[in-house]
Amino acid sequence: MLITSRKSWELSDADATPEAVYRDRRRFLKLGVGLAAGMAAGPLFAPRSGLAAPSENKIKDILQSKYRILEKATERDKFLNYTNFYEFATSRDQIVERAEAFATRPWTVEVAGEVKHAGTYDVDDLLRPNRREERIYRHRCVETWSMIVPWVGVPLADVVKRLEPTSKARYVAFETLHDPERMPGQKRPVLEWPYVEGLRLDEALNPLTVLAVGAYGETLAPQNGAPIRLVVPWKYGFKGIKSIVRITFTETEPPTSWNRSSPDEYGFYANVNPDVSHPRWSQAKERLIGDFFKRRTLKFNGYGEEVAHLYQNMDLSKFF
Ligand code: MTE
Repeated sequence: MLITSRKSWELSDADATPEAVYRDRRRFLKLGVGLAAGMAAGPLFAPRSGLAAPSENKIKDILQSKYRILEKATERDKFLNYTNFYEFATSRDQIVERAEAFATRPWTVEVAGEVKHAGTYDVDDLLRPNRREERIYRHRCVETWSMIVPWVGVPLADVVKRLEPTSKARYVAFETLHDPERMPGQKRPVLEWPYVEGLRLDEALNPLTVLAVGAYGETLAPQNGAPIRLVVPWKYGFKGIKSIVRITFTETEPPTSWNRSSPDEYGFYANVNPDVSHPRWSQAKERLIGDFFKRRTLKFNGYGEEVAHLYQNMDLSKFF
């Protein structure tokens, strides 16, 4: 396996902020003033103007969930272009271009393992009983950049409950499509393919955990993990596995791609934690894409009230 010393998503601060914002102090000052004015006026999040435009990708009848960060969402263009998806490419410039023609219908998800309703489901059937919800979450990459993303999806807990795990199930494992013809990045052994991730069952059942099918009111773009991806907002972004084709309920902790690749650097849990440094950099601060100043990283990415109880009596520097 090829392990490069620096992954493309392990960026320096200068890389992580768009150059124009990083370098242009005048623009920064303008942003600062805008931010202050926005705060005085109340909640900062306002749908991007692009959302109003008619689009065949628009998702209808979205429920506004109570899980909304009251901060302005990251520009949609940044979300679409500043992306990580090694199955297409390790370089950001190539991901969007190579993913553009990726067909995401028809799409099936196999459900396997310790579960009553194992089988192969059409992705739309799997999610059909749920109304789509918007969840405006912080999205924190392990390499210290962050965004605020209005995801659209369904609670994973609802899907898990419908599938009825057996009493033996303690974990849920996820797998991305493995098809090097359609995902040319898989022709190179950058990671062991397919990309795999996992959660403890109680993490999967937490109300914050979402299977996302869209963002910014529209269906996901291929580069962001269409047609279905995981979103676990209190964990580093790499837990958010994209383009899922298999969900397996297991008795034992499943392997995860980055842990397999660099076990000393990436753990199974990957909870956002400013007190536990990555071996090569601090996690105390982050730069929100579009901001000039760094901000303090919050434990559990700010979602401690909802999730800290899941890790009581666990040494989080050991279970990182
Ligand atoms: N899922 C797969 N299958 N392949 C990947 O390379 N990258 C991960 C995660 N999910 C990745 C993946 C990483 S490192 C991050 S930070 C997030 O996706 C980025 O999600 P975004 O590009 O939608 O912001």
